[in-house]
Amino acid sequence: MKPLPVTADDTIAFSRIVRGLRFFGSMDMVLLERILEGLQLAAYGRGEKVCVQGEAGHFFFVVRSGTLTVSRRRGGLSLPHRVAELGPGDCFGEMALLDEAPRNATVSCRTDCVVYVLPAVHFRSVLARNPEFAAQIRALAAARQADPEG
Ligand code: CMP
Repeated sequence: MKPLPVTADDTIAFSRIVRGLRFFGSMDMVLLERILEGLQLAAYGRGEKVCVQGEAGHFFFVVRSGTLTVSRRRGGLSLPHRVAELGPGDCFGEMALLDEAPRNATVSCRTDCVVYVLPAVHFRSVLARNPEFAAQIRALAAARQADPEG
């Protein structure tokens, strides 16, 4: 993982991506700026893992570029199987933060990837101040949880 500098263009691109998630909703400018200040950008190489099933989660991610594979082990000894693929505009890492539980899947890079990384504290302040986003992200997590593939 290589941290990248976050430029004004990156911030604008992030805002554009998360608009579909109603991430900012009717948040005031002060909060919005505080959240964007916490935003990080990271490059991962093909094969690198961004999240590992069973580990603690401290970040929420939004894909800027590249393709990632979500895989899960159903039991301690079972082999991981692929449950989904994620690409630009998709988010992940919400479940561990919503449930305060370990990561429920491993997310690894199928190609070189660039992802936005938002620390849990910033993610939680968006949830607390923006009920529309909270409802949407909870619905997404519930659908992923219920995914028969997963
Ligand atoms: P989290 O458990 O924090 O870390 C692993 C992430 O993989 C998880 O949050 C979800 O964002 C994502 N994930 C888990 N299961 C699925 C699924 N069935 N489809 C898409 N993404 C998933």
